[in-house]
Amino acid sequence: MSGVKLLATGSALPQHVVTNHDLEQIMDTSDEWITSRTGIGARHHCTGEESHTSLCLEAAKKALERSGVKAEEIGVCLVATLTPDFLTPATACVLQKELGLEHDTVCFDLNAACSGFVYALHTAQCLLAAAGRKYALVLGAEVLSRVIDSGDRSTYVLFGDGAGAAVLEWREDYPSIHAVLGCRGDDQVLTIPGVNKGVPAVVHMDGQGVFRFAVEALPHCAREVAQKAGISLEDVDRFVFHQANQRIINFAVKKLGVDPAKCTGNIAHTANTSAASVPILLDELMEKGEIKSGDKVLCVGFGGGLTWGGALLEVAQRREGDTK
Ligand code: UT7
Repeated sequence: MSGVKLLATGSALPQHVVTNHDLEQIMDTSDEWITSRTGIGARHHCTGEESHTSLCLEAAKKALERSGVKAEEIGVCLVATLTPDFLTPATACVLQKELGLEHDTVCFDLNAACSGFVYALHTAQCLLAAAGRKYALVLGAEVLSRVIDSGDRSTYVLFGDGAGAAVLEWREDYPSIHAVLGCRGDDQVLTIPGVNKGVPAVVHMDGQGVFRFAVEALPHCAREVAQKAGISLEDVDRFVFHQANQRIINFAVKKLGVDPAKCTGNIAHTANTSAASVPILLDELMEKGEIKSGDKVLCVGFGGGLTWGGALLEVAQRREGDTK
């Protein structure tokens, strides 16, 4: 046995809230359409001085402070994202500087779209096994308002900005997170052109294609994680699913036969924040006391790639000297 547990979380959302009614003023859409098709009521967009980096710093500082872990104890720092401020330096490198992490901290960004945070949890667990310092700072963060086209109502209304962070501790006597990661390469249903394409970097999505993929991938992945961990889905205290569409979650909950009260989310006020969605929800639930020490939390992300990722994250007892 060896693995990581979750010590603490933090998150950051931009101040500016864009409601469905705000969108009704700038495009041919309606609150009724958005709410009934997606469950989204509002999203946050970065304005002014806010940026991907500022959101990451705010979320990371909160998580570190709550964990009681000092910056110099961090051995691994990962940021899951597809909308960083810079292609280089990686956001994780900026965090190394701003947070005062040691120079031999392993710092990099990774892109597995909406599954990115779960990919980063697994990567951190693997890296910590070999690292000298046994704590990791893992983030999911996006500024999707930069890659949506206001001329495309079918995608513009769906996405928002935000960052979530988690501090993990690796120990020989901790269980593995039993990650299940996968990819079915597809460059048609969900794409954002890269720097070499000479076309605007905006989201293109075949919504129904992704929907069909998601309602199959989410429950399948959740089941596989439980099976790998040797537990039943009833043993899970909380499910934290990627917040892409409330209808996808409702489908999955029904298919899995789990208690809907263990699967509530926050899409109504965050919209889809891709890699940031799972850690922001984790943090909200930790803050509300709906996730507590000792809880088993099954996280699942799915989306662009096409990718999926699931993991069973156990919440550790808070360390002595922590601040909460
Ligand atoms: O995080 C990455 C993973 N992403 C996802 O999981 C997204 C998965 N897909 C979805 O969530 C849904 O497919 C959407 C929410 C994107 C779309 O819902 P839908 O029920 O599949 O709608 P649709 O694309 O079939 O469009 C239905 C109608 C169309 O009009 P017609 O052709 O029936 O006249 C669209 O033009 O809705 C229209 N429409 C809109 N109407 C008002 C599309 N966007 C809008 C809009 N406001 N914003």
